[in-house]
Amino acid sequence: MNILLEADQIQRRIAELAAEIEADYPADEEVHLVGVLKGGFVFMADLVRAMSTRVTLDFIAVSSYQQSTKSSGEVRLIKDVDTRLEGRHVIIVEDIVDTGLTLTYLQDILRARAPKSLRSACLLSKPSRRLVNVKVEYIGFTIEDKFVIGYGLDFAEKYRNLPHIAVMDEA
Ligand code: IMP
Ligand code: MG
Repeated sequence: MNILLEADQIQRRIAELAAEIEADYPADEEVHLVGVLKGGFVFMADLVRAMSTRVTLDFIAVSSYQQSTKSSGEVRLIKDVDTRLEGRHVIIVEDIVDTGLTLTYLQDILRARAPKSLRSACLLSKPSRRLVNVKVEYIGFTIEDKFVIGYGLDFAEKYRNLPHIAVMDEA
């Protein structure tokens, strides 16, 4: 396993992203983060702890990968958010934007709930793999077309607990 991003490097970037997000919204308005399970849970946990107390959060769960490093291209909603999004500043928090299919799907269904604003924050982006043109306002790191694990990202449900991000060895 080849380490691509060290734990402290990730933390420094998240502090920058949190500061950027804080500065982008009026100080007296709440910001509601919607984390995408399961991959986004670690990024979400660190991002909200780097932000002020005006933050609220919820989770949504989708499935697109079936125990493989190739996307099926199909997105399934497994768990919806628990609260209404109408009139709120919503930010989708995702681990990685790859083909862009998952995020496009999520943006479409959440936009239909009439939030005051809708943005997306992804820790990682693999632009070379994009199949759809999706807008992502906050990107932690842009990476090459390598399958990565750790920091929430899995291979067949393993390695999500690694504190760093590593490149998965070719099988
Ligand atoms: P997309 O729909 O192709 O953009 O894929 C998004 C989802 O695929 C992410 O939320 C991840 O769960 C998963 N994914 C994409 N690339 C990787 C990777 O390199 N490692 C682990 N999961 C990945
Ligand atoms: Mg995922």
